[in-house]
Amino acid sequence: MTSHPLILMTDPGHYEVSYQINPWMRPDAWAECAKARTEAARGASAALCAALQAAGARVEITPGRPGLPDMVFPANAAIVLDRTALMARFRHPERQGEEGPFREAFEALRARRLIDEIVTLPDGVVQEGAGDAHWDSHRQMFWTGFGPRSAKEADAVIRDVFGRPTAPLELATQQFYHLDTCLCPLPGGEVLYFPPAFTEEGRRTIAGLTDTDQRIEASPEDAATFCVNAVALGRTLVMARAPQRLKAVLAERGYRVVEIDLSPFILSGGAAFCMTLRLDHVAARTRLPLVANA
Ligand code: ARG
Repeated sequence: MTSHPLILMTDPGHYEVSYQINPWMRPDAWAECAKARTEAARGASAALCAALQAAGARVEITPGRPGLPDMVFPANAAIVLDRTALMARFRHPERQGEEGPFREAFEALRARRLIDEIVTLPDGVVQEGAGDAHWDSHRQMFWTGFGPRSAKEADAVIRDVFGRPTAPLELATQQFYHLDTCLCPLPGGEVLYFPPAFTEEGRRTIAGLTDTDQRIEASPEDAATFCVNAVALGRTLVMARAPQRLKAVLAERGYRVVEIDLSPFILSGGAAFCMTLRLDHVAARTRLPLVANA
């Protein structure tokens, strides 16, 4: 059994901010100094990759495509658990062209036996991958987001395909349009989340599944700096440049924060978590029920 986390990233060579499908996206700011930003994005992506490797992960890089700049966010490509990938279907036409290339990428991963199965969503159901389906290894379930991007109906599909429980949370704002921008389950059982991103009912769901001391509330600043969008590798949390207070809170809980300047990607509304996709998450085997002797 290998213990190295396996992470997919996309080559940022075709990355740019050329359209706007979320309130953070700034095509104008990008265009002002596109050349410098392209360089900065390459550097930031390489720094993220190096930080993940330093924390013990293996990183697979898949190529991007011209005209599909948001392929740099492979968290939106699929949900992967137990070597099965449920391929995403995108809400916005701007990203729908990614579905073909990502399927090819997953077929290549399957050919190399890094995953076993590729599953397609039912017609008409939109779901934007792990960005809206965060695996919680502590609770052995998915936290799922719906509303701005993924459809509520996707939830039953996720339960069906992976045979694990889900906690569906409606996303109440356009700012926090994917679940991974406003909630991050940590390996020790804590949940870092930004309460105003959820409906009253969603906050009740979170409260119902966590103990008081497991809930870490992100501040508006933590959320706006995309620090909730973190990659957790054991006790290491890789994230964008973080506010001092958040780092102190996480350190107190025994987490080491590794910060990367991801500003070129924040200009598109994404950061560390969505620039990655874990391929190796496996659910704990359920124990076989004891059979009484006849
Ligand atoms: N520009 C991308 C979009 O709006 C950013 C995606 C970030 N991904 C994420 N899982 N938060 O779709």
